[in-house]
Amino acid sequence: MTASHAAPESRPPAGSAPLLEARSVSKYFGAVVAVEDVSLAVRAGQINCLLGDNGAGKSTLIKILSGVHQPDAGTLAVDGQPVRFTAPRDALDAGIATVYQDLSVMPLMSISRNFFLGNEPTTGFGPFRHFDAGRAAAVAREQMRNIGIDVRDTDQLVGTLSGGERQTLAIARAEYFGARVLILDEPTSALGVKEAAIVLRHAISARNRGLGVIFITHNVQHALPIGDTFTILTRGRSGGTYARGELDAAELHRLMGGGAELEELEADLEMLAHREARGEEVPAVPLGAEADGGMA
Ligand SMILES: Nc1ncnc2c1ncn2[C@@H]1O[C@H](COP(=O)(O)OP(=O)(O)OP(=O)(O)O)[C@@H](O)[C@H]1O
Ligand SMILES: [Mg+2]
Repeated sequence: MTASHAAPESRPPAGSAPLLEARSVSKYFGAVVAVEDVSLAVRAGQINCLLGDNGAGKSTLIKILSGVHQPDAGTLAVDGQPVRFTAPRDALDAGIATVYQDLSVMPLMSISRNFFLGNEPTTGFGPFRHFDAGRAAAVAREQMRNIGIDVRDTDQLVGTLSGGERQTLAIARAEYFGARVLILDEPTSALGVKEAAIVLRHAISARNRGLGVIFITHNVQHALPIGDTFTILTRGRSGGTYARGELDAAELHRLMGGGAELEELEADLEMLAHREARGEEVPAVPLGAEADGGMA
């Protein structure tokens, strides 16, 4: 594999149409403005990071792109041609595979069953047709190995896999079924450092194989090393799209609207550390007071 920061050489010529675009899309849930007038484009061989704080509208936007929600305004385009997705199947048929935040895997099913969910290979004819367990196991094992996970037992229940392994399974499955665009909704948010690194590497290698990747996160540290472009969402509205190198971590935080909070938090922590060092009593924070702090 090439160095993770290197731009792949096999990029399509500039000017070719994006694989997938949202053009000024809006989505309202009653009085809630989930997404308003947001545009996003992903090209072959690129990772577009979609950044924003909790509730910014990231999942809503990608659900529009994957046919789960229909936009109240605006349009979608595939290869530059306007399209309408009326169901997730339409997006899948256009080569758009989404790994949802609430992972679309069944914890009580085996790895190989999960791999083929809804597309099971069968053997036999007519009334004797049944799930081809042997083939499912072989394909699942091979595809998982291709992206670097050695599965000992494809009968293992998915519920017993680690978070990173589950993400890997979902990514391997998407690619096997011919995805051209891979949408990953916060794939690293519940993971430790090592597992997050593995998932980030999968995103990079998908990009290097020519897929377009939309990578959603509110972790600037995960976005910066892998993104070719960065689109910011704040309270449903676009804070702009920036190319790699145009922004540093501090600017990204500021654009996401968390800059002030982070500075405040740093100051608070410093003050507490000083007090502790001087042997002063440190006030306890009441449980739940900082519940939705959005730190990650
Ligand atoms: N099905 C729904 N019905 C009503 N409101 C919704 C629905 N889905 C999302 N919302 C609201 O739309 C806004 C955007 O939510 P969304 O899930 O898109 O945010 P997000 O950026 O993905 O947040 P997070 O980082 O927490 O995943 C929120 O205010 C949310 O409560
Ligand atoms: Mg979300």
